[in-house]
Amino acid sequence: MSFKEQIDTARLPKHVAIIMDGNGRWAKGKGKLRVFGHHNGVLSVRDVVEGAGELGIKYLTLYTFSAENWNRPKYEVTAIMELLISTINKEIKKLMESNVRLNTIGDIEMLPKKCYDELVSAMEKTAGNTGLVLTLALSYSSRREIVQAARAIAEKVEKGDLKVSDITEDLFAGHLHTAGMPDPELLIRTSGEYRISNYLLWQIAYAELYFTDKLWPDFRREDLYEAISDYQKRERRFGLTSEQVN
Ligand code: FPP
Repeated sequence: MSFKEQIDTARLPKHVAIIMDGNGRWAKGKGKLRVFGHHNGVLSVRDVVEGAGELGIKYLTLYTFSAENWNRPKYEVTAIMELLISTINKEIKKLMESNVRLNTIGDIEMLPKKCYDELVSAMEKTAGNTGLVLTLALSYSSRREIVQAARAIAEKVEKGDLKVSDITEDLFAGHLHTAGMPDPELLIRTSGEYRISNYLLWQIAYAELYFTDKLWPDFRREDLYEAISDYQKRERRFGLTSEQVN
């Protein structure tokens, strides 16, 4: 039985987040430049987005470029930005046909203007789509996001628009870039690394973590289905006992 057939579609995670890792090592293993890995990583993105939408996942959030990634060699940063522009350009028709809404988290105003404009235009075009919400984390740092939320709330308190006693978990979550999105129930990281790397720190409080040795350019929808099938075998207790949950 395929992994897809093993999945109970009535109990799908609403939100799957992925740390796409291993592009550089994949390329190096083939004697190529790191950028070759990123180009092939786009094929994985395409397949996983299609596979997630087909299965009925509502939110898919991909760690595409971290705030720390700005410190990579200039040629690599430029290549990733150009890849983003060309991919969005090429895929916009497909996103519309598949009813996918494109969204971003992170400080996207730090991206090169052409990249920013392309993203904003694609977000506007797909804003009315009601299928999968595909969120690209770009120039994203979870700690920075949390600090920005804290500042925004503090400003409201300072102006008298909020009372300290109004500050709740829900209010705080509403000031994060992911406001309005459910928390991810499943976080996948590829490439055999076991870290979170400043990704969705608040939002993954109760997420199930899934690590695979596969490098991102080798990851396909069947691997996503394997992760979801594994997720469905787990008992999520949220601090309760097994007896209470059952
Ligand atoms: C991590 O691999 C990957 C990235 C930092 C870039 C991810 C970008 C893409 C998959 C292409 C663009 C995506 C979209 C959505 C159009 P790494 O370079 O850190 O690999 P390594 O750990 O082996 O060095």
